[in-house]
Amino acid sequence: CLTGYKLFSLTMVEKLDCIHESAETPDVYIVERLFSSSLVVVVSSAMPERMNIYHFKKGTEICNYSYPENILAVKLNRQRLVVCLEESIYIHNIKDMKLLKTLLNTPSNPSGLCALSITHSNSYLAYPGSFSTGEVVVYDTISLNTVTVIPAHDSPLAALTFNASATRLASASERGTVIRVFSVPEGLRLFEFRRGMKRYVSISSLCFSPDGLYLVSSSNTETVHIFKLEPLGPSAEDEAASWTAYMGKMFSAASTYLPAQVSGMMSQDRAFATVHLLSAAQRNVCTLAVIQKLPRLLVATAEGQLFIYNVDPLQGGECTLAFKHRLFGAEDEQSEGEPEGLEVPAQSCPSYAETAALPPSAPVTATLTGYSEDGGAKKGEVIPEHEFAAGPVCLDDENEFPPVSIQRS
Ligand SMILES: *[C@@H]1O[C@H](CO)[C@@H](O)[C@H](O)[C@H]1NC(C)=O
Ligand SMILES: *[C@@H]1O[C@H](CO)[C@@H](O)[C@H](O)[C@H]1NC(C)=O
Repeated sequence: CLTGYKLFSLTMVEKLDCIHESAETPDVYIVERLFSSSLVVVVSSAMPERMNIYHFKKGTEICNYSYPENILAVKLNRQRLVVCLEESIYIHNIKDMKLLKTLLNTPSNPSGLCALSITHSNSYLAYPGSFSTGEVVVYDTISLNTVTVIPAHDSPLAALTFNASATRLASASERGTVIRVFSVPEGLRLFEFRRGMKRYVSISSLCFSPDGLYLVSSSNTETVHIFKLEPLGPSAEDEAASWTAYMGKMFSAASTYLPAQVSGMMSQDRAFATVHLLSAAQRNVCTLAVIQKLPRLLVATAEGQLFIYNVDPLQGGECTLAFKHRLFGAEDEQSEGEPEGLEVPAQSCPSYAETAALPPSAPVTATLTGYSEDGGAKKGEVIPEHEFAAGPVCLDDENEFPPVSIQRS
């Protein structure tokens, strides 16, 4: 019987722990966890206008809020909780849930596309500035002012994500042919990545690596692409030249190591690394993480599988499957995988870990949220109700991955 949601802890590639399971709420379509805390926001299609906030360790409800229309997305960071409806955005102070600002009459955003940065120093929100073109509004949720409006694409936006320090914003449009990276707050176009093929695809997820050097994109096709954000300038060219000399022309022609400089912007025609999933049209969400000191690509599919790939940070190329987990659904394939090539001691301490929460019954939203290795049990221990009402949010997860979520577009 598949209802509710699950929270998982992933500290080792081969070990996936279910740290929380709630079967009480049917048809959950949004689950967002505040980093490694016990705060979880849940929206169910039984009451799509209401958001329930739980302390999942205690199993208690902290509060609930209702909005005039269906909730399409909820984003959280240490300072703000943002609720996105089709034509309005509500910005709450996460410490006391006070409503700070309502952005009314925002351009129609039927998929609830928006991104919230995760840094302490700022809290930027990005959302579509137009229904018909790919304009992005970057809004400062602290000063409650628009920072910049970026004409990012000609066609409407399909995906948005900030890097961890909110100095870069990546975007893709509904056509899915190019992915662009802009500087924040300036809004300058810095990188442009082409996925290789000209056919239109729908990009379903975009995510930077924790160090901001790589960007992963997944779509409705079977290919997941990882792009590398090469530094701009003479040093990059020198590096490229020596790399060419070393690897030979054949290799350089086939790789993405030599980005062309186009009027001050870096443009790449091929992905740095790729993964070919077993079947296309599996809705999925991707993230890049360091687990057991190695760079990994995680792909969670709407069918309930979590694939962990190893990424070669120097050579790129086709990523190798390291492990496969089942998050929900049929149990027969559980823990199947090829854990060879993991040249790390089992006891090594990972910098990152993953929580994946997927709504089992109606896979409309998939969430991958990073959090500290203790599963939120010791570090940054939770947000008790009284603290939630008055005091500061106590978290100890400085380098955590942002919560990302995707909606059916
Ligand atoms: C929502 O919150 C109110 C208090 O504000 C509480 O009485 C009610 O039980 C909550 N609803 C649910 C379904 O948890
Ligand atoms: C974000 O991008 C900036 C470039 O503006 C880079 O210096 C920084 O390392 C990136 N930060 C993270 C954490 O990705």
